[in-house]
Amino acid sequence: MANQLLIKNGRVIDPANDLDRKCDVLIVDGAVAEVGDFNGAVEKSVERVIDAAGKLVTPGLIDIHVHFREPGDEEEETIASGSAAAVAAGFTSVVCMPNTNPAIESETDVEYVHRKGRQTRKTHVYCMGAVTKKREGVELAEMGLMAEAGARGFTDDGHGVQDPAVMLRALKYAKMFDVVVAQHCQDDSFAGSGVMNAGYCSTILGLPGIDALAEEAMLWRDIQLVKKTQVQYHAQHISTTGSVELIRQAKKGSLPVTCEVTPHHLLLTEQCCADYDTNYKVNPPLRGQKDVDALKEAIAEGLVDALASDHAPHLQSEKELEFLTAPFGIASLECALGLYIKALIEPKVLDWLGLVRLMTASPARIIGIDKGTLSRGKQGDVTIIDPDAEWKIDVNEFLSKSRNCPYHGWTVKGKVEMTIVGGEVRYEI
Ligand code: DOR
Ligand code: ZN
Repeated sequence: MANQLLIKNGRVIDPANDLDRKCDVLIVDGAVAEVGDFNGAVEKSVERVIDAAGKLVTPGLIDIHVHFREPGDEEEETIASGSAAAVAAGFTSVVCMPNTNPAIESETDVEYVHRKGRQTRKTHVYCMGAVTKKREGVELAEMGLMAEAGARGFTDDGHGVQDPAVMLRALKYAKMFDVVVAQHCQDDSFAGSGVMNAGYCSTILGLPGIDALAEEAMLWRDIQLVKKTQVQYHAQHISTTGSVELIRQAKKGSLPVTCEVTPHHLLLTEQCCADYDTNYKVNPPLRGQKDVDALKEAIAEGLVDALASDHAPHLQSEKELEFLTAPFGIASLECALGLYIKALIEPKVLDWLGLVRLMTASPARIIGIDKGTLSRGKQGDVTIIDPDAEWKIDVNEFLSKSRNCPYHGWTVKGKVEMTIVGGEVRYEI
């Protein structure tokens, strides 16, 4: 008998099909067989019936920006620990960034990440490859071979590609493989040795700042390159009002430009750095309230294409260094959904259909994977969420190896009850 799983009575939210209503989802042999009202008709013949009454049933959530630190920094995170954290957080697909040690820059590196992901049997693990060798911004990496091996895009994330001629070459090259080029927009000459947003706060704290222009100058430059090449381009973790305006204009001009926003740029501001707590040190830095408001407006307006955690685990011992020297990054994968609910659903920036779209179908489109929907025949990746369950974020309960999370002790709503990957229950509460 076929392997069958019935999820009944849930509120099924499938933005790709404009669906938001109470019904059932039948998964057969790892794929979505049908979404509809079965009225108990198939219940007797299926292997497992999951009663999702009062719960949300969504396509498996997708996070296109995580750092799983493998190879090289396995004490911070591994593909196994990150994947376990991912499914506990409702993510059925993640995209690992290539700023590992060494960087993911060859066909073998991409295959390594994929193989580790498959062996772990938790979430689907994808990766992006580096744009340039060693992420040094000089010579292009083996983009073609990496694309063939399944890399879902290219980025030197953690660092922007500084040289415009190199970036232009990368875009032209990527065109041949139909894979997105993503950018950590930050012009080093503006950013200097900054460790937080440049402004009143950084002056008072006596810390070197990263001006908003560092992000905006590179994003502006890249948009000019996209105008010339018409290659799919993705601005990672945008954080400023000026970036929102640049994206708005680019989209008005129908350029193939997409962008993502992180939970921290929606919930935290530069003022959080006032106690020199390095858990708030992140790159791009936390900005001002006006920037937070602009990002939320951009999301409400439909200018943002994905919500991405930028889960960046770091060792406690490194985060305990002084603000100037501690590494940038926030580990947030395991509380990401609750944070998005707090930032976007509770203040009514988005409704559930809108939120789920930015966590499923829309990011899937950016990285070109045939996922993010419950259409018939698609892989059976499903997340079941209790939208009203309140819980307290406790870093000590994280499956991630790292604890550098400024949300420790926060109360959020929205608990992942079950995560199904390819028709298999890979996490349940
Ligand atoms: O805060 C950050 N941490 N920003 C990045 O771009 C890189 C990341 C990391 O790898 O830790
Ligand atoms: Zn990143």
